[in-house]
Amino acid sequence: MEQFNPDVLISEDEISLRLDELAKAINQDFAGEEVVLICVLKGAFMFCSDLMKKISLPVKLEFMQLSSYGDKMSSSGNVKVMLDVTGSIKGKNVIVIEDIVDTGLTLKTLLEILKKRDPKAVKLASLLYKPARNTHPVDIDYLGFEIEDKFVIGYGLDYAGRYRELPYIGVINAGN
Ligand code: IMP
Repeated sequence: MEQFNPDVLISEDEISLRLDELAKAINQDFAGEEVVLICVLKGAFMFCSDLMKKISLPVKLEFMQLSSYGDKMSSSGNVKVMLDVTGSIKGKNVIVIEDIVDTGLTLKTLLEILKKRDPKAVKLASLLYKPARNTHPVDIDYLGFEIEDKFVIGYGLDYAGRYRELPYIGVINAGN
Protein backbone atom coordinates (compact mmCIF):
# COMPACT_ATOMS: atom_id res chain seq x y z
CA MET A 1 0.00 0.00 0.00
CA GLU A 2 1.19 3.50 -0.91
CA GLN A 3 2.41 5.30 2.25
CA PHE A 4 3.69 8.85 2.47
CA ASN A 5 5.43 10.67 5.31
CA PRO A 6 3.91 14.12 5.02
CA ASP A 7 5.75 17.30 5.90
CA VAL A 8 4.00 19.51 8.47
CA LEU A 9 2.68 22.67 6.86
CA ILE A 10 0.49 23.92 9.74
CA SER A 11 0.97 22.42 13.20
CA GLU A 12 -1.69 21.34 15.68
CA ASP A 13 -0.82 24.30 17.95
CA GLU A 14 -1.02 26.83 15.11
CA ILE A 15 -4.44 25.48 14.15
CA SER A 16 -5.72 25.65 17.72
CA LEU A 17 -4.54 29.26 18.19
CA ARG A 18 -6.10 30.34 14.91
CA LEU A 19 -9.40 28.65 15.82
CA ASP A 20 -9.45 30.67 19.06
CA GLU A 21 -9.38 33.82 16.92
CA LEU A 22 -12.07 32.60 14.50
CA ALA A 23 -14.36 31.59 17.36
CA LYS A 24 -13.84 34.95 19.04
CA ALA A 25 -14.90 36.74 15.83
CA ILE A 26 -17.98 34.49 15.49
CA ASN A 27 -18.91 35.04 19.17
CA GLN A 28 -18.70 38.80 18.66
CA ASP A 29 -20.51 38.90 15.29
CA PHE A 30 -23.46 36.83 16.53
CA ALA A 31 -23.53 37.93 20.19
CA GLY A 32 -26.92 37.15 21.74
CA GLU A 33 -28.06 35.06 18.75
CA GLU A 34 -28.22 31.39 17.81
CA VAL A 35 -26.13 30.00 14.96
CA VAL A 36 -26.50 26.89 12.82
CA LEU A 37 -23.18 25.37 11.76
CA ILE A 38 -23.37 23.41 8.52
CA CYS A 39 -20.37 21.09 8.46
CA VAL A 40 -19.46 20.15 4.90
CA LEU A 41 -18.52 16.48 4.97
CA LYS A 42 -16.21 14.82 5.01
CA GLY A 43 -13.20 17.14 5.07
CA ALA A 44 -14.51 19.76 7.54
CA PHE A 45 -15.46 17.37 10.36
CA MET A 46 -12.38 17.97 12.52
CA PHE A 47 -12.30 21.73 11.93
CA CYS A 48 -16.02 21.97 12.70
CA SER A 49 -15.71 19.88 15.84
CA ASP A 50 -12.79 21.90 17.25
CA LEU A 51 -14.27 25.27 16.25
CA MET A 52 -17.66 24.41 17.73
CA LYS A 53 -16.08 23.70 21.12
CA LYS A 54 -14.73 27.26 21.16
CA ILE A 55 -18.04 28.94 20.25
CA SER A 56 -19.90 30.27 23.28
CA LEU A 57 -23.27 30.96 21.56
CA PRO A 58 -26.35 28.73 21.38
CA VAL A 59 -25.36 26.51 18.45
CA LYS A 60 -27.00 23.83 16.30
CA LEU A 61 -25.21 21.42 14.01
CA GLU A 62 -26.14 20.19 10.53
CA PHE A 63 -24.21 18.24 7.92
CA MET A 64 -24.09 18.44 4.16
CA GLN A 65 -22.07 16.41 1.71
CA LEU A 66 -21.28 17.39 -1.84
CA SER A 67 -19.77 15.34 -4.59
CA SER A 68 -16.01 15.20 -4.08
CA TYR A 69 -12.88 14.78 -6.15
CA GLY A 70 -12.92 11.03 -5.67
CA ASP A 71 -9.39 9.74 -5.82
CA LYS A 72 -8.16 12.54 -8.01
CA MET A 73 -6.21 15.64 -6.98
CA SER A 74 -8.25 18.10 -9.06
CA SER A 75 -11.92 19.01 -9.40
CA SER A 76 -14.17 17.45 -12.02
CA GLY A 77 -16.21 20.66 -12.11
CA ASN A 78 -19.36 18.70 -11.30
CA VAL A 79 -21.02 19.45 -7.92
CA LYS A 80 -23.95 17.43 -6.55
CA VAL A 81 -25.66 17.47 -3.13
CA MET A 82 -25.25 13.94 -1.73
CA LEU A 83 -26.50 14.68 1.82
CA ASP A 84 -28.68 17.61 2.90
CA VAL A 85 -29.52 19.34 6.20
CA THR A 86 -32.35 17.83 8.25
CA GLY A 87 -33.94 21.06 9.54
CA SER A 88 -35.17 24.29 7.94
CA ILE A 89 -32.66 27.16 7.83
CA LYS A 90 -35.30 29.81 7.10
CA GLY A 91 -34.64 32.88 9.28
CA LYS A 92 -31.53 31.29 10.84
CA ASN A 93 -27.93 32.48 11.13
CA VAL A 94 -26.04 29.90 9.11
CA ILE A 95 -22.27 29.41 9.13
CA VAL A 96 -21.01 26.98 6.50
CA ILE A 97 -17.93 25.17 7.76
CA GLU A 98 -15.62 24.04 4.95
CA ASP A 99 -12.14 22.52 4.95
CA ILE A 100 -10.66 24.30 1.94
CA VAL A 101 -11.64 26.67 -0.84
CA ASP A 102 -9.65 25.62 -3.89
CA THR A 103 -11.31 26.51 -7.20
CA GLY A 104 -14.30 27.74 -5.15
CA LEU A 105 -16.78 25.83 -7.30
CA THR A 106 -18.10 23.65 -4.45
CA LEU A 107 -18.69 26.58 -2.11
CA LYS A 108 -20.13 28.90 -4.72
CA THR A 109 -22.68 26.23 -5.66
CA LEU A 110 -23.48 25.44 -2.02
CA LEU A 111 -23.92 29.09 -1.01
CA GLU A 112 -26.32 29.63 -3.94
CA ILE A 113 -28.39 26.62 -2.82
CA LEU A 114 -28.53 27.83 0.81
CA LYS A 115 -29.37 31.47 0.01
CA LYS A 116 -32.50 30.31 -1.86
CA ARG A 117 -33.76 28.83 1.45
CA ASP A 118 -34.22 32.28 2.98
CA PRO A 119 -31.83 32.20 5.96
CA LYS A 120 -31.30 35.36 8.02
CA ALA A 121 -27.57 35.27 7.22
CA VAL A 122 -25.13 32.91 5.53
CA LYS A 123 -21.47 33.18 6.46
CA LEU A 124 -18.57 31.02 5.41
CA ALA A 125 -15.79 29.64 7.60
CA SER A 126 -13.00 27.86 5.76
CA LEU A 127 -9.90 26.45 7.39
CA LEU A 128 -7.82 26.89 4.23
CA TYR A 129 -7.82 28.93 1.03
CA LYS A 130 -5.67 28.34 -2.07
CA PRO A 131 -5.85 31.61 -4.03
CA ALA A 132 -3.68 30.28 -6.88
CA ARG A 133 -6.42 27.99 -8.18
CA ASN A 134 -9.49 30.10 -7.39
CA THR A 135 -11.74 30.45 -10.43
CA HIS A 136 -15.05 30.96 -8.57
CA PRO A 137 -14.53 33.80 -6.05
CA VAL A 138 -16.38 33.47 -2.74
CA ASP A 139 -16.19 35.71 0.32
CA ILE A 140 -14.65 33.80 3.22
CA ASP A 141 -15.90 35.47 6.41
CA TYR A 142 -13.77 33.38 8.78
CA LEU A 143 -10.56 32.13 7.19
CA GLY A 144 -8.00 29.97 8.97
CA PHE A 145 -4.99 30.09 6.65
CA GLU A 146 -4.14 31.08 3.10
CA ILE A 147 -1.83 28.47 1.56
CA GLU A 148 0.26 27.96 -1.57
CA ASP A 149 -0.89 25.77 -4.42
CA LYS A 150 0.03 22.47 -2.79
CA PHE A 151 -2.14 19.40 -2.23
CA VAL A 152 -2.63 19.20 1.53
CA ILE A 153 -3.80 16.39 3.77
CA GLY A 154 -4.63 15.84 7.42
CA TYR A 155 -6.90 17.52 9.98
CA GLY A 156 -9.87 16.10 8.06
CA LEU A 157 -8.49 16.48 4.54
CA ASP A 158 -7.79 13.36 2.56
CA TYR A 159 -5.92 11.94 -0.35
CA ALA A 160 -7.85 8.97 -1.77
CA GLY A 161 -9.75 8.67 1.52
CA ARG A 162 -6.64 8.52 3.69
CA TYR A 163 -4.72 10.75 6.14
CA ARG A 164 -7.83 12.50 7.59
CA GLU A 165 -6.75 11.47 11.10
CA LEU A 166 -3.52 13.51 11.15
CA PRO A 167 -3.80 16.25 13.82
CA TYR A 168 -1.91 18.75 11.59
CA ILE A 169 -2.08 19.99 7.98
CA GLY A 170 0.57 18.19 5.97
CA VAL A 171 1.93 18.18 2.44
CA ILE A 172 2.69 15.08 0.45
CA ASN A 173 6.06 15.41 -1.22
CA ALA A 174 6.74 13.22 -4.21
CA GLY A 175 9.65 10.99 -3.33
CA ASN A 176 9.03 10.46 0.37
P1 IMP B 1 -13.19 23.39 -4.89
O1 IMP B 1 -14.60 23.19 -5.35
O2 IMP B 1 -12.22 23.27 -6.03
O3 IMP B 1 -12.99 24.66 -4.12
O4 IMP B 1 -12.83 22.13 -4.00
C1 IMP B 1 -13.19 22.03 -2.71
C2 IMP B 1 -13.02 20.62 -2.19
O5 IMP B 1 -11.94 19.91 -2.84
C3 IMP B 1 -12.62 20.68 -0.75
O6 IMP B 1 -13.76 20.71 0.08
C4 IMP B 1 -11.78 19.44 -0.56
O7 IMP B 1 -12.58 18.35 -0.21
C5 IMP B 1 -11.15 19.18 -1.93
N1 IMP B 1 -9.77 19.69 -1.99
C6 IMP B 1 -9.33 20.78 -2.63
N2 IMP B 1 -8.00 20.96 -2.45
C7 IMP B 1 -7.60 19.95 -1.65
C8 IMP B 1 -6.33 19.60 -1.07
O8 IMP B 1 -5.28 20.23 -1.23
N3 IMP B 1 -6.34 18.48 -0.29
C9 IMP B 1 -7.44 17.74 -0.03
N4 IMP B 1 -8.64 18.04 -0.55
C10 IMP B 1 -8.72 19.14 -1.35
